[in-house]
Amino acid sequence: MMKICVIHGPNLNLLGTREPDIYGHDTFDELNKKIKDRARQLDVEIRIFQSNSEGEIIDMIQQAMDWADGIIINPGAYTHYSYAIRDALAAVRLPITEVHLTNVHNREEWRRVSVISPVTTAQIVGFGTNGYLLALDGMRSFVEESHR
Ligand code: DQA
Repeated sequence: MMKICVIHGPNLNLLGTREPDIYGHDTFDELNKKIKDRARQLDVEIRIFQSNSEGEIIDMIQQAMDWADGIIINPGAYTHYSYAIRDALAAVRLPITEVHLTNVHNREEWRRVSVISPVTTAQIVGFGTNGYLLALDGMRSFVEESHR
């Protein structure tokens, strides 16, 4: 069975209460339930992690190398400046989808830069929590096709 690692970065644990006008009203638990339900439908095994610290996110990325077929990651604000997370993603050589709840391109100027995009397979932005479901669909097809 295909295995996908889902990593949520800093402040995403506050989903639902954090700036709901921007990030929506779905809570973090609701988001993870949605992801798990879709994974079940797609017959994909998933493990979901959240951390507010850069080092822990890097540890999870490195560990994924041993068990996962792909990574779905929303690195939160680290997206914009963490070369360490970028390098970890490049090192694992797995297919990676970068997800952002918001359209990072139509907000503050500094959010337009993603230092991780150059090492990812795909990026999904602006669809709120549904973006993770699109990422799962996309990763499933992508990994399947790459095994053919
Ligand atoms: C975010 C966008 C980032 O700029 C921000 O720092 C976040 C969330 C998003 O999902 O839209 O924490 O990654």
